[in-house]
Amino acid sequence: MKKIHLSPIKSPLTGTITVPGDKSISHRAIIFGSLAKGKTTITHFLNGEDCLVTIKAFQAMGVEIKQKGEEVIIESEGLDCLKEPLIPIDLGNSGTTARLLLGLLSGLPFHTTLFGDQSLTARPMDRIRDPLLKMGAQIDGRSNGSYLPIAVRGQSLDGITFYPPVKSAQVKSGVLLAGLLANGETTVIETIKTRDHTENMLTAFGGKIKIEGNKVTVQGKQTLTGTDIEVPGDISSAAFFIVAALLIPGSELTIKDVGLNPTRIGILDVLKHMNADIVITETKQVGGESIGDLKITYSELVGVDVAGDVIPRMIDELPILALLATQAKGITRIRDAEELRYKETDRISSVVNILNTLGAKVKATPDGMIIEGETTLIGGQVDSDGDHRLGMMIAIASLICQEDVILTNPDVINISYPTFFDDLNALQSK
Ligand code: S3P
Repeated sequence: MKKIHLSPIKSPLTGTITVPGDKSISHRAIIFGSLAKGKTTITHFLNGEDCLVTIKAFQAMGVEIKQKGEEVIIESEGLDCLKEPLIPIDLGNSGTTARLLLGLLSGLPFHTTLFGDQSLTARPMDRIRDPLLKMGAQIDGRSNGSYLPIAVRGQSLDGITFYPPVKSAQVKSGVLLAGLLANGETTVIETIKTRDHTENMLTAFGGKIKIEGNKVTVQGKQTLTGTDIEVPGDISSAAFFIVAALLIPGSELTIKDVGLNPTRIGILDVLKHMNADIVITETKQVGGESIGDLKITYSELVGVDVAGDVIPRMIDELPILALLATQAKGITRIRDAEELRYKETDRISSVVNILNTLGAKVKATPDGMIIEGETTLIGGQVDSDGDHRLGMMIAIASLICQEDVILTNPDVINISYPTFFDDLNALQSK
């Protein structure tokens, strides 16, 4: 198994970076670009393994997609031109591709089989299967389609009104995509608003959508038109460097062109409560998404309670927040985050195991964790558990450990941030 040695940092992090394109928005740009008639050009696309899986899936359905690094050009004749893939589609590690595609495939007139890697195969699909069955979908797989591999035989669907029992943008988006192909209207009513990139992008592609608070309604049988999409930097990737700058004395870091969609920046709200010095400057709106720059200065932090409505707005940032909390004064409690157990790994167990191995004092609870600060992190050998965000959390932790950290299985970071170590090294050498 591959391992890398990571040494403590000797100087502050200073300089300016941009981070790769947003993963959620990159997936959706490929999906909507494939469904729309005409040409779509995507810039600052996330050239990471998860999003490449989405490109391959639509190429397998006959869509002409050319990708060169961060630029993608899609020429599509619209959703009627999508064809039955001849072989099963490999979704790798990508939960977003799985949930969104299940929605779409349910209403397309052909048969498809989807499978994924070991992690994705263990992730629950019943959360999207159930509303799709109500719309008339025909889905089968392990445990009646609760887990991949799953086969879908496209059907004529009918719109529904759906109250998602789990707070998941993937499920909302899968149902809305099915709704685009269905007869009548489809409405999703959430208790807490999850990330709304699907809604924004549908509008950018000329689609009709009605949004009233947490209630979203789409018309079925719409025609979308190709457009240009500029993908903002991913706040979930930026979070690793935000935390690094807050942890390392003397650091002063600027991150440019980051997505600042209000449904994604819960991490910034929580960091402010911890006393973090972060200056946010909104610079533009693109495709319904706000973009801006962040200036982060090393700060002495205090522990906080993190719970309730903010959780879905920062669900992917909770592992790196847990690391930060080990260095804040006092206790940090994360609650209402049971969803973490259904991510690429059980991120409650894995984060607790990793941080405790490095020397922290963290306790798992059924829906979160309790983190004691300030604790000295020593170092040791830890595994990414095949989870990209845990790999990066370990790399950032190693900067403040007293001894070296050996990270096993580091390549998983390529899922969402292939240039992570290049960016980290660039900031250190300045
Ligand atoms: C995503 C939504 C989130 C997030 C994932 C990407 C999306 O998952 O964890 O990394 O693109 O819609 P859930 O919506 O299932 O919580």
